[in-house]
Amino acid sequence: MSTVLPAGKQQAQPTDFLPLLGTDYIEFYVGNAKQSAHYYKTAFGFQSLAYAGPETGMKDRASYVIRQNKLTFVLTTSLKPEGPVAEHFARHGDGVKCISLTVNDAADAWKQTTTRGAKSYLQPTVLKDEYGEIVLCGIHTYGDTVHLFIERKNYSGSFMPGYEKWETESESVSTGLLHVDHCVGNVGWNQMNKWVKFYEDVMGFKNILSFDDKDISTEYSALMSKVMSNGNGYVKFPINEPAEGKKKSQVEEYLEYYKGEGVQHVAIATSNIVETVTELQSRGVEFLRVPGSYYDSLLDRVGKIDEEIGSLRELGILVDRDDEGYLLQIFTKPLQDRPTLFFEIIQRKGARSFGKGNFKALFEALEREQERRGNL
Ligand code: FE2
Repeated sequence: MSTVLPAGKQQAQPTDFLPLLGTDYIEFYVGNAKQSAHYYKTAFGFQSLAYAGPETGMKDRASYVIRQNKLTFVLTTSLKPEGPVAEHFARHGDGVKCISLTVNDAADAWKQTTTRGAKSYLQPTVLKDEYGEIVLCGIHTYGDTVHLFIERKNYSGSFMPGYEKWETESESVSTGLLHVDHCVGNVGWNQMNKWVKFYEDVMGFKNILSFDDKDISTEYSALMSKVMSNGNGYVKFPINEPAEGKKKSQVEEYLEYYKGEGVQHVAIATSNIVETVTELQSRGVEFLRVPGSYYDSLLDRVGKIDEEIGSLRELGILVDRDDEGYLLQIFTKPLQDRPTLFFEIIQRKGARSFGKGNFKALFEALEREQERRGNL
C-alpha cells in the first residue's frame, strides 16, 4: 500500500536504510499540460491544486498539479522547443518522468542511494517560501525515468515553493481514486534482473513475487515480471521485460513506441471499483475488455465474492484470488496516442498479489488491440 500514514504513525524499520512514507506525486512530461490537466480532471475526477509557470517565475515550462484523495499528479510541458522537458516529450511522447517518494530526510535518502551506486539526478536542494521549506533530491532509474525524494515535514503549503495555489471555476467530482497501489516499469531484453538488483542494492527493496514467461504467455507473446517492494510495503515497483514468443511481446511494442524503457502502468486504488469504473466509463474513459466467457467460469475460479457478477461483466472488471483474499482490477486503454502508458484501477479485498489468474485473458485482450495497430 502506498498510503502515507498520518504523522506520529510514521515508522521506519531499523534496518531500512531508505525509509519511504509513500508515493508523493507522479510527474508526467506531456505535449500540452493545460489540456492534459483538463482531461485528468474531467475524465478521472482530479481537482486543481497548484500551478507553476512564467507567472510564478518558471520561464521554460508550465506545471499543473492536480489531486484526488492521496493521489497527486503533476503535468508538465515545455514552453520552448529545446531543453529537457521538450526533448523528453519529443522522444517519448506523453509519459511518466518522476515517481516521487516521500521521505523524512531527503539528504540522507540521496546519500544512502548514491553511495550504493545510484546516479544522481538532483543533489539535495532546499526550496523555501512563507509556508516553510521542502528538501528534494533525485536519482536516475530505468530509461529517462527518475525518483525524487521529497521531504515535506517542515512545509504547510498546498504543494511546493515555486507553485501558486490553482483555483478553477468548476471542479470535477471525485471518482473514488485513492492512492497509488503500484507503478510498473517496462525494461529492455534481459534487463529485468539488472533493475531488480538496482532496487535491491540501491534502494533496499525486496523481490516479493516473480512471474516467468510460462505464467505470462499467450499463444503469441510473452513477458517476464518481478515485483519489488520497499521494507514497509508502501511502495511497489513490478519490472517487466519482454520474452520470446511467436509474435511481438506487448513490452516490445511499448519499448518501440516509447523509444526506450519507461513506466508502463500506474495502478490506482479504489475502495469501490464498481462505482469508480461506472463513473469513469460514463465520463468516456476507455478500458480493455475481456470476452464475456471470462465471467461464465469466474465463480468456479475465485469462489464467493461480495460483488454481483452481472455488474462486473457489464463493466469488464476482472477478479483474482490468492491465499489472503481477492482483488478486482481493470486496465484502461493507452492514455495517449502512442501505445505506451495506461492505468490500472484496483480494489484489494485482502489479496496482496497482482492478478496472476487474469494475465492470460488480459494479455489476449491487449494483443487484440496490438493487432489492430498492426504491431503483433
Ligand atoms: Fe498492475
